[in-house]
Amino acid sequence: MSTPASTSLPTLALTERSHVLVLTGAGISAESGVPTFRAIGGLWEGNRVEDVASPAGFVRDPLLVWRFYSERRAGLADVAPNAAHRALAALEARLGERFLLVTQNVDGLHVGAGSARVIELHGNLMQSRCTVCDRPPFEDRQVYRAGVAPMCGRCKAAGRDAVLRPHIVWFGEAIDGEHLARIERFVRAGGRDLVFVAIGTSGVVYPAAALVDAARSVGGRTWLVNAERSDNADRFDHVVLERAGAAVPALFAAAA
Ligand code: APR
Repeated sequence: MSTPASTSLPTLALTERSHVLVLTGAGISAESGVPTFRAIGGLWEGNRVEDVASPAGFVRDPLLVWRFYSERRAGLADVAPNAAHRALAALEARLGERFLLVTQNVDGLHVGAGSARVIELHGNLMQSRCTVCDRPPFEDRQVYRAGVAPMCGRCKAAGRDAVLRPHIVWFGEAIDGEHLARIERFVRAGGRDLVFVAIGTSGVVYPAAALVDAARSVGGRTWLVNAERSDNADRFDHVVLERAGAAVPALFAAAA
């Protein structure tokens, strides 16, 4: 069930029992200057992003993949959180355990804005991990020179060569089951008091695009804030066709 798109900025009523689950996508970072996947037409230097950001792409040409991610790391150097990121951090400060933020973005801007209850569903651009050993993902802000594939220092110390990879969930790879279990627990805890808000996402990449269905299945209310109608817009109770930088702070401002 959906209602017609709002023309003026609405506000969202919360009670002391409300549990707020927020899903964000590339659109929330657009006003910070991070290009969305759709904005670049899904292409990078003539390559389909799916072909670069995939396990098969990495096996085929790890140097190309590292050049792609090094360029994206460099692009984040001057980027800062915007009013929408900050409004979500402020909402978390008010709701505490009754708030959970799930982001498909790998730009780290939610953490930068002060959010702590964040699940980075698709990984983090500023982290790497080894393709061989089981050391945990670690912070790596390095912009590697073209033609350089970074190697794992720990493996080298053990006498073997192992290439690093970005800590990103690539196309065709599974989402961490612990993340999904944590989201499911939150949805169940919220039940009919769940308020689900999706912001700046085209609603085509799963499982994130199905969170609206999970929220509906427990009787929660669902809101979409997006610059345009996303693919799954019909499955939301409320659709706000606005830019996130203005709409998100307004939506939560009166949500006492
Ligand atoms: N405010 C709100 N929405 C916006 C804004 C804005 N300022 N600017 C753009 N949008 C909307 C676009 O209209 C579009 O619907 O944000 C959406 C961004 O869509 P995508 O670029 O497809 O990003 P996203 O949905 O996050 O992509 C999902 O696909 O590229 C892969 O794994 C990657 O996490 C990514 C996933």
